[in-house]
Amino acid sequence: MKQNVLVIGSGGREHAIVDALKRSESVGRVYCAPGNAGINMQATPVEIAVTDIDNLARFATDASVALTVVGPEVPLANGIVDEFRKRGLRIFGPTKAAAQIESSKAFAKELMARHNIPTAASRTFEEFQPALDYVLAGPEQIVIKYDGLAAGKGVVVAQNHTEAEAALRNMLLDDEFGKGRVVVEEFLDGPEFSFMCLVNGAKVYPLAIARDHKRAYDNDRGPNTGGMGAYSPVPFVTDEIRQAALDTILRPVAQAMVDEGTPFSGVLYGGLILNNGMPKVIEFNARFGDPETEVVLPRMESDFYNVLEAVIDGRDCEIRWKPETRLGIVLAADGYPGTYAKGLRINGLDKVDDKVYHMGTRLDNDGNIVSAGGRVLMVTAGADNLTQARKQALKEIHKIADCSEGFFFRSDIGVKESAE
Ligand code: AMP
Ligand code: GLY
Repeated sequence: MKQNVLVIGSGGREHAIVDALKRSESVGRVYCAPGNAGINMQATPVEIAVTDIDNLARFATDASVALTVVGPEVPLANGIVDEFRKRGLRIFGPTKAAAQIESSKAFAKELMARHNIPTAASRTFEEFQPALDYVLAGPEQIVIKYDGLAAGKGVVVAQNHTEAEAALRNMLLDDEFGKGRVVVEEFLDGPEFSFMCLVNGAKVYPLAIARDHKRAYDNDRGPNTGGMGAYSPVPFVTDEIRQAALDTILRPVAQAMVDEGTPFSGVLYGGLILNNGMPKVIEFNARFGDPETEVVLPRMESDFYNVLEAVIDGRDCEIRWKPETRLGIVLAADGYPGTYAKGLRINGLDKVDDKVYHMGTRLDNDGNIVSAGGRVLMVTAGADNLTQARKQALKEIHKIADCSEGFFFRSDIGVKESAE
């Protein structure tokens, strides 16, 4: 019997999840709450907000949903998994307690310290003056992180003490993100990569490695964003490095969470950095990465729904991947990640020959697809290697960008690595 599924969220990540579930032989109806213009072409939209846990659970019951997959972090941090489970509903994601690995930087850092997981040295502070004293006694380059969800904006990589002091002032005296603690962290140098694993307690099912480009403009300049492009696999992450990341980071963390009474289930996302040849942790997320998911899931050859079922039941399951390299480029509204216009008309979508995932789109009253966010969509292309995938993705995104006003994109995603 085919099963109904519910996906929660409205971005490119959720579009890629919906797309992967639609390919499954076991899946009947795919619902998405609340969805977007692109998702709604593939799934049945459900007009319930991602934070309205009670109504989401009611809907899942009424629509005979066999499995709910959660995209964004906020409902996880609010305890959607605990509530669904209480009502006997099957859901893929971590409990509120386990989601702290993302929602609290201090929780993650303390867990890693207790279990010798390689990461940047750090201290947590509640007061401004002791934090400042600590910073002034250390090197000029230092990282300041707000201890809570700050939509990717709570991290300042300070180049000198003046920048560090300003960040501490914002976070601890002016309460920019609300009252909270701050983690002061050693600066690590090296290339970053994203290692997402499906997890059930101590059991870890690794997904393909991806790389995300967080800065707004070419050559990694400009402000940090939610991610402007991504690709998978990542040539510099050799089998040895991947194995080291599994053996020294992902598996021990899953085990540590079991041992400490907060077992993890769902997607454990390791934001890792290759520092002096060894992978170290920059951050953990408790969910699929965005935009990494848009280049990882299309590569999955195995049936995604069956994989999720196997993980939830704790069964062994080998995940097979297409050998292609997939690269995606984000089309963003001019001004993003600062202020930007919404409602901009997106043309040329019908000309694109590969997968496009919608990140922030909606239909206007005339039935046109218009922008509804800063990151609007991601155009992806699959090819034999990174150079080709990049070339094709650029060709495809031009089909939209050249006939749509008010958008920009990075043209250097994957450049550095394809030249190496
Ligand atoms: P996070 O939100 O923790 O992933 O941090 C955002 C970005 O800041 C990361 O992707 C890194 O580029 C950078 N960053 C965070 N922590 C460090 C660190 N300890 N050393 C160097 N860069 C860092
Ligand atoms: N791409 C980074 C994230 O999902 O947090």
